[in-house]
Amino acid sequence: MHNSFIIKGNVCQTINPKELDLHENAFVICVNGVSKGIFNTIPDEFKNLPIYDYGDALIFPGMIDMHVHAPQFAFRGTSMDLELMDWLNRYTFPEEEKYEDLEYAKKAYDMFVKALKESATTRSVIFATRHRYATELLMELMEASGLISYVGKVNMDREASDNLTEKNADVSAYTTFGWINAVKDKFTRTKPILTPRFIPCCTDKLMEELREIQMAYGIPVQSHLSESKGEIDFVKFLRPKNSFYGDSYNEYDLFGKNDDIGVDVKTVMAHCVWSTDEEVELMHKNGVFVAHCPASNMNLTSGIAPIRKYLDLGLNVGLGSDVAGGHSLSIFRAITDAIQSSKMYFRMVNENYKPLVFSESFYLATKGGGEFFGKVGSFEDGYDFDAIVLNDNVLSHPQTLNLAERMERAVYLGLDEKNLTAKFVAGTKVL
Ligand code: GUN
Ligand code: FE
Repeated sequence: MHNSFIIKGNVCQTINPKELDLHENAFVICVNGVSKGIFNTIPDEFKNLPIYDYGDALIFPGMIDMHVHAPQFAFRGTSMDLELMDWLNRYTFPEEEKYEDLEYAKKAYDMFVKALKESATTRSVIFATRHRYATELLMELMEASGLISYVGKVNMDREASDNLTEKNADVSAYTTFGWINAVKDKFTRTKPILTPRFIPCCTDKLMEELREIQMAYGIPVQSHLSESKGEIDFVKFLRPKNSFYGDSYNEYDLFGKNDDIGVDVKTVMAHCVWSTDEEVELMHKNGVFVAHCPASNMNLTSGIAPIRKYLDLGLNVGLGSDVAGGHSLSIFRAITDAIQSSKMYFRMVNENYKPLVFSESFYLATKGGGEFFGKVGSFEDGYDFDAIVLNDNVLSHPQTLNLAERMERAVYLGLDEKNLTAKFVAGTKVL
């Protein structure tokens, strides 16, 4: 059987946000890329499958990056002292302009894909640039990596540098049709996602055309929402008729499902730092996913997203690196950043919203974001088999730690960047 095997080690996951689910010296069984569950002994029917024995190593579900900009990987960790709108104009747009040049794109995207492949991330939702051919190149590299992703050619027809802004809504839409037709059936692991950059960069006409494209192809949508105060003020000025920011996506049916008119558009919105009650209510009703990107929100001085509030209300939430607003591709890092920023929110903003605990943040990084991809983010029976194997013997300690301590410490101490020993995506071994 293709992609069928057993891995053995110390399995750590979260089936629900409230508690860790830990199994010492356990077997996880993968049949045709799908998990059969975690076992203490191998059931007879699977006795003949090959075994990867990882000894005393830790086994986690793969990490899900719900929001990352591939073309910004090259300048991550630099240019970190401006707020969003100035940061875009001064640093980000000039960098993205370079992707017109396929030679540059190849060089930079090779580096991005290599780093992502070597990280703990198994699946991601990716922004490319507005350039069709560089985006196709990125998709080819992602497909070859074995990772699973949605990749978006960006749409933007106003309010950026001349070289980056598409000539008009028709050109943007036409290019997008060409791109989707070229890639929609080309890959097995890499799928297109419709990507209006954000409202400031998209004319009403473009939004109208994107609605048509979404309806024609039924593909999912990603964008940015209520990230930064300057951005939100600008959206109010551009679209005075919409009572909140998200309504300007919803008006074009690019904001989750709407049972009233029978549309179902899988949607992820990055940030949601400043979402109003009305906006949060609509996200909840429409099943919009929030990509929480705490590092980016700190770096760009955007604020702190009230994740506890979103979890209490039952919103879909996952974590994103948002490279290069976030400086690190590590979703382990995003897990701890989400906990830390929720602590600051609790202490400094509103003591009604209790800080996230480790199991909750780990859940967001796995099953929370994984739901965007289907049954993904744990080793429960029927879930896609995405696994990472980590050897924490490189983290010395003077005492014996239990498995819960080892799991938490691996994340806090960044073991993903120190000793990731194997990685599987939908049952394919990629590392
Ligand atoms: N809003 C519009 N474009 C961007 C971007 O590239 N990064 C972030 N963080 N927010 C955005
Ligand atoms: Fe972003």
